[in-house]
Amino acid sequence: MQYEVVLPAAGSGKRMGAGQNKLFLKLLKKPILIHTLEVFQQDPFCTGIWLAVKPEERIYIQELLDEYRITKVKGLPDGGAERQHSVHSCMKEMQQVDIVLVHDAARPFITHDIIANLVQSAHDFGAAIAGVRAKDTMKKVRNGVIEETVDRDSLWMIQTPQAFRFDLIVEAEDVAEKVGFLGTDEAMLVERLGHTVHIVESSYENVKMTTQEDLLFGEAILRKRALQLNE
Ligand code: C5P
Repeated sequence: MQYEVVLPAAGSGKRMGAGQNKLFLKLLKKPILIHTLEVFQQDPFCTGIWLAVKPEERIYIQELLDEYRITKVKGLPDGGAERQHSVHSCMKEMQQVDIVLVHDAARPFITHDIIANLVQSAHDFGAAIAGVRAKDTMKKVRNGVIEETVDRDSLWMIQTPQAFRFDLIVEAEDVAEKVGFLGTDEAMLVERLGHTVHIVESSYENVKMTTQEDLLFGEAILRKRALQLNE
């Protein structure tokens, strides 16, 4: 089933401490941004990529797209102050499609299988997001003191991609903009409408490149995958 993807790429990546957009940092000699783009470039069901960028980085990103032959990008609108604004600026330029995925450009290890499950679930139910079960014991803490141990079975750690029927995410974003609501993910905007959001079990490898140590995990994942390909 076909879909288009929105990739917010206009962050500053302060927690990485790289002094530049972390998406330009390299994992095994290739920029993180390109690793992510290649997943969608190579997925036959992806019919278009929308990339939110900082205006001052547009030319460099365009050069990267040419160098790595990323041909599916349909638009590179200006990102905004918050991730949600960056996503919204892409949505405003898109034509009507059936299914839209929103995916952090900083998560390069997403697989085609998980994407396909999300697209199917969004088609069936309207909204579906990737997540993994919490592994550690989870406690609620206030002022340095445990308040409660939370039942882990009901807790999931949420990732992207998040997949939606086009009309539903457009409505959710419009409502959020009108009332000035800022969510930490797109699903929150849909939840606010009272719409159910389904979860699709993802992989612990689908990490977001956030801090320096994530780069080490990232290169380890790439090396493991290269070995698996050669087996
Ligand atoms: O900072 P964080 O890693 O959580 O950002 C997730 C994704 O959102 C990154 O790919 C980043 O480039 C993007 N982003 C954006 N516009 C912002 C903030 C973040 O496109 N204002």
